[in-house]
Amino acid sequence: MLWNNQAYRPLETLIYDNIIAPAVEEISDKTAEKLAASLAPGAKVLDVGCGGGQLAVQLAKLRADLIINGLDLSPQQVKRARKRAVLAGVRAEFFQGSALDLPFKSETYDLVYSIASIKHWPDYMAGLRECLRLVKPGGLLIVVEVDKDCPKETAAAFTSRWRLPGFMKSLALIFFRVFVARRSITLKVARQLAAALPAKKYDTALYAEDLCWIVAAEK
Ligand SMILES: C[S@@+](CC[C@H](N)C(=O)[O-])C[C@H]1O[C@@H](n2cnc3c(N)ncnc32)[C@H](O)[C@@H]1O
Repeated sequence: MLWNNQAYRPLETLIYDNIIAPAVEEISDKTAEKLAASLAPGAKVLDVGCGGGQLAVQLAKLRADLIINGLDLSPQQVKRARKRAVLAGVRAEFFQGSALDLPFKSETYDLVYSIASIKHWPDYMAGLRECLRLVKPGGLLIVVEVDKDCPKETAAAFTSRWRLPGFMKSLALIFFRVFVARRSITLKVARQLAAALPAKKYDTALYAEDLCWIVAAEK
């Protein structure tokens, strides 16, 4: 899955959670702070492709009043997310399922967000439409993904934060550029996808020091 379009297998969840996710967490923490500052009291939030639940749990720590759900295709990731929430002593519920067929009622969430997951979806547009289906009118869909065109220096700064011994950092950079960034989506394509969404308005930009792009669509 790290290198193709299937569900994360157990070994891959272990690698992602222990080596890569700590570097993603720095970005997630800042994102959680921004989201926490913008959401109304008691807002309902869904994290699609939540992985080990790092961002959802961080958000729950910052805002105990929010109703936070997370969903991931990988049962192992869902298990990790549930365990992370229990260990953190926060309220967040996690479900197994696909972004392309979300097991929730339409227009139930104030915010649906997805971080670094869309590149794995077999049909980007179908997944985005499905996510937007769950957003209440006036609510927001936020999608963040690695920019296929991210500069080498930015990629190197990111992989240097992976939990690996120094001698493996250059291999990590090659792995990231070949198997992650190159298989991701450009900002230009993200804009085209956002423009085709049945949203009231949308915005796109580069994010996290140009490592990623972000799409924010208001329903
Ligand atoms: C790179 S990880 C990102 C995890 C987390 N959002 C983060 O930022 O750390 C991508 C996640 O997307 C999940 N995923 C892949 N395809 C999916 C799909 N069709 N529906 C839901 N989740 C999916 C994977 O299982 C994996 O946990």
